[in-house]
Amino acid sequence: MDYLQINRVDSLNGNIKISGAKNASLPLIAMTILAKNNVKIKNLPHVADINTLLKLLHNLGAKFNRSQEITTVDTSSLNQTKATYDIVKTMRASILVLGPILARFGHCEVSLPGGCAIGQRPVDLHLKALEQMGAKIGIESGYIHASAANGLTGCDINFDKITVTGTANIIMAAALANGNTTITNAAREPEVVQLCEVLNNSGVQIDGIASDVLTIHGTNGKLLNIKEFSVIPDRIEAGTYLCAGAITRSQITLTNVDAKHLGAVLAKLEEMGSSFTITKDTITIHPSKIIKAVKIVTQEYPAFPTDMQAQFLALATQAEGTSIIEERLFENRFMHVSELQRMGANISLNGHVATINGGTKLGGTDVMATDLRASSALVLAGLIADGTTDVHRIYHLDRGYDSLEIKLQNVGANVKRLKE
Ligand code: UD1
Repeated sequence: MDYLQINRVDSLNGNIKISGAKNASLPLIAMTILAKNNVKIKNLPHVADINTLLKLLHNLGAKFNRSQEITTVDTSSLNQTKATYDIVKTMRASILVLGPILARFGHCEVSLPGGCAIGQRPVDLHLKALEQMGAKIGIESGYIHASAANGLTGCDINFDKITVTGTANIIMAAALANGNTTITNAAREPEVVQLCEVLNNSGVQIDGIASDVLTIHGTNGKLLNIKEFSVIPDRIEAGTYLCAGAITRSQITLTNVDAKHLGAVLAKLEEMGSSFTITKDTITIHPSKIIKAVKIVTQEYPAFPTDMQAQFLALATQAEGTSIIEERLFENRFMHVSELQRMGANISLNGHVATINGGTKLGGTDVMATDLRASSALVLAGLIADGTTDVHRIYHLDRGYDSLEIKLQNVGANVKRLKE
C-alpha cells in the first residue's frame, strides 16, 4: 500500500493545473449508456473512481479507449444489466448506472451500496422517484431489482431532500422516458448542470437548467447522439489547493479553473484573510500572514460544500481565534478530527459541530486517511507541521485527486509517495 511522506517547507510557489471534475465525470460516463454513438470525452481526471466506473461499464459489455487527453466510450455492445457488489462496494456512485440502464433496457439490478465512512447515505430517494416513473422496484439479497417493461413515464417528482446523484440518476432516466419529467428541489451543483447541458446539446430538451426545477423532455426510448464534450474543472480539487496556499501563506496560481463554481469557498477564504486575482480560467491566491477565524455551515450548492469541510477545518487550526464548523449533509463526516488532534490541533466536537481553537503548532506524525476529503485535510496539515507527517491509506485520496503529490511537488512541496 502507498503512503505520502510530507516534510514542511517554508513556502510554496508556482502554478497548479486543475483536472476535470470527478463528480461531473461520473454521471457523464454513466450517461454514455443512453448513447447510440461512440461518445468522446475530454478532460476526464486520472483518478481511481473514474477507472472503477469504466471497469463497471466494461463488465456490462461496453468498450472504451482511454488516452491522456480523450476517452471514447462505446456502449452499443453493452448487453448486461447487473452492477455487482464487488464493484459497487468500492464506489457508491456506481448507483448512477441504475437510471440509464433501466431507461435503455427496461430492467436493471444494482447492488445496494451499503453504509459508508461518512454516514448512512441511503438511496431511497432515487428508488422512490423511479417508482413514480412507473418502475417496479424490489430489494432481494442485497440487490435493487428495477423493471419497467414498457419504458419509464414522465411525471412530477419532488425530492424531499436535495440529492446530487439522485437528481443525476433521474435526469438520465427521464431522458429516454415517455413524456416530460419535472424534478422539483433538484440539485443545482455545477456537475448536475453540466450533465443537463450535455444532454440538452444531444437532443434532449431540458428546461430550467441550473435552477432547482428541471423539466426533461423524454425521447420515448430513442437513444441519443451525444456530442463530444470536455469535463468542467474540479472545484473541490481547486478549493483544496487554494487551502494549501492559505495554510502555507504562499501565492499559488491555479490554471484550468472556473472561479464561478467556487463562490462560497472564495468568500470564506476572503473572510479568513486571503485575496485573489481571477481571470477567465485562472485564480491566484494572495494569502495573508494572519489567518482569521471563521464560521462555516455546509449546505447544498451554491452554499459552502461539504466536500471542502475537512480542508477548511485543517486551515482553521492555524487561524487566530475560535472557528465553528457545522456539518449539515453527512452525520459522520468528522473522522479527520481525531487525526488532526494527534498532530496537536485543539478541536472539540459536539455532534455535527466542530469548535476549532486556532493558532496551535502542529507536529508531524503517522496519520490515517479515512475518506477522500479527510485525506486531503491531513495533507494540508502535513504541509505546515513540524517534522515528518506520514499519511497512510491514501487509496482514499487516489479515488479523487489526480497526481496530487506531483502537483504539490511542482509548487515546491516536499511530498513523496512511498510504499508501506
Ligand atoms: C454527492 C457527491 C459527494 C458530495 C455530496 C454532497 C458525487 C459522486 N458525490 O454525493 O462528493 O459530498 O453529493 O454534496 O457527486 N440522501 C438520502 N436519500 C437518498 C439520497 C441522499 O437521504 O436517496 C441524503 C444523504 O444521506 C445526504 C444528503 O441526502 O445526507 C445528500 O446526499 P447526496 O446529495 O445524494 O450525496 P451523493 O449524491 O451521494
